[in-house]
Amino acid sequence: TILILDFGSQYSHLITRRIRECGVYCELLPCTVKVKDLEFKPKGIILSGSPYSNHEEGAPHVDKQMFELGVPVLGICYGLQEVARVKGRGGEIASETGHLVQKREYGSATLNILGGAQRHELFDGFNGDQTRVWMSHGDHLDGLPQGFKVIGHTETSEYAAIAHEMDKVFGLQFHPEVTHSEEGAKILRNFAINVCECQSNWSMETFVDKEIQRIRGVVGETGRVIGAVSGGVDSTVAAVLMKRAIGDRFHAVLVDHGLMRLNESKNVKKVLDEQLGINLTIVDASESFLGKLKGVTDPERKRKIIGNTFIEVFEEQAKLIDAEQSEKIEYLVQGTLYPDVIESISFKGPSATIKSHHNVGGLLDTMKLKLIEPLRELFKDEVRKMGLLLGIPADLIWRHPFPGPGLAIRILGEVTPAQISIVQQADHIYMSELKANNLYNQISQAYAALLPIRSVGVMGDKRTYEQVIALRAVESTDFMTADWFDMPVKVMKRISSRIINEVHGVNRVVYDVSSKPPATIEWE
Ligand code: XMP
Repeated sequence: TILILDFGSQYSHLITRRIRECGVYCELLPCTVKVKDLEFKPKGIILSGSPYSNHEEGAPHVDKQMFELGVPVLGICYGLQEVARVKGRGGEIASETGHLVQKREYGSATLNILGGAQRHELFDGFNGDQTRVWMSHGDHLDGLPQGFKVIGHTETSEYAAIAHEMDKVFGLQFHPEVTHSEEGAKILRNFAINVCECQSNWSMETFVDKEIQRIRGVVGETGRVIGAVSGGVDSTVAAVLMKRAIGDRFHAVLVDHGLMRLNESKNVKKVLDEQLGINLTIVDASESFLGKLKGVTDPERKRKIIGNTFIEVFEEQAKLIDAEQSEKIEYLVQGTLYPDVIESISFKGPSATIKSHHNVGGLLDTMKLKLIEPLRELFKDEVRKMGLLLGIPADLIWRHPFPGPGLAIRILGEVTPAQISIVQQADHIYMSELKANNLYNQISQAYAALLPIRSVGVMGDKRTYEQVIALRAVESTDFMTADWFDMPVKVMKRISSRIINEVHGVNRVVYDVSSKPPATIEWE
């Protein structure tokens, strides 16, 4: 295992990615973790970058004992400054010995690798003595800590890459983990495999096998597990994995809040129950949800009502299933992914709430269920890879994300059965056309929203006064930022004319050309 200590850089999770891509297992932990609290002995340690300046008050610092474990350490950017702070002249911290100076540098630079044919093993397999690297820092070293030598420099950074051969401690001023550093991935691979001597044996197949064994170990021979499914990728993959591990002792529950896409709960039944053989209960709770949403127009109130009602309905169902069985349900499965885990363990604390996303966390309190999170080590694309490996149909794997509160946050204003029907039909036409025109897979997320305003139109010889459908389509890698999709005009024309002709109550269609930020992906 390689231990990656996160000092809060926006690139920390990319280090994890690069290490895993070479088949080496790694864990990302907050930089404040102490050696005495580690649950494993790492074979190497990487210190990430940070938005802090090393001298700043409140700047995070590494437990110095990390350097006494006798394993190689690689500091990246801020991590390099931590290396200098700990290993600085006579062990004093850099600020006292004047090692750091402020000078901002951002962007591409050329790294000159020293040593010619004898260049450092971190640069094994490099194409030449020069390589493009990505700089993004405010501080840099102005002196070389004792015992270190320079193994690479750029025009502006004399100490862009340094090494302490005896102690196997290294520092890089640039970011090898970003793709702008052309051969950066090779450095991380060389560190993990050559320097730390880690084995390259992490693969999705072995991960699935190990995870199934782990689940069986946790749940035991008779234990029962329940989990909510939505028809989305994460909950489906988690469900199939549970089915593989414990068969029908896993119960999946789909709470149909009446705010799903057209025919969605039928489709989920077809795939999960009929194709994948999962023990599935569908609860039609639409009356309860719609009853509580009556007259509510505030987006946050809608979200809260749906979140709370979801927990109530799910819990009631869990108790019903529980009562039918001789063995109690003890566990709740959640499809938590690695980015959520990172968010919640970051030493900076979870970021500010922009919108309240809901989950079924509240269940743990009253039913005393223990949590199983089989996907907590995976990134989204790894979950997809696992899903394909588990035999889940490809069109489900490549589905766009769909928010928990469903169509309620895509119907601006009051949610009524008539409004739901309009948005379902419009959305169905939109998705069918995107698929028919081979655009669906180029888009990260697309949907139709129903606006609460009316506008004047003319149909035949008659004046109309009807609602507006807004079409949204975005491209995004992490849904934190997004750009609107450059939709071909021909396709837009067809979608618009079909919606206006086929969906009663709509006489106008608009396309949303806002990026995130400052807009969000959903309208509410
Ligand atoms: P926003 O609108 O915040 O959306 O830019 C970012 C991503 O999150 C999805 N989203 C949700 N997902 N529960 C969810 O499970 C929610 O309450 C929720 N709200 C937004 C949204 O569809 C987009 O993919």
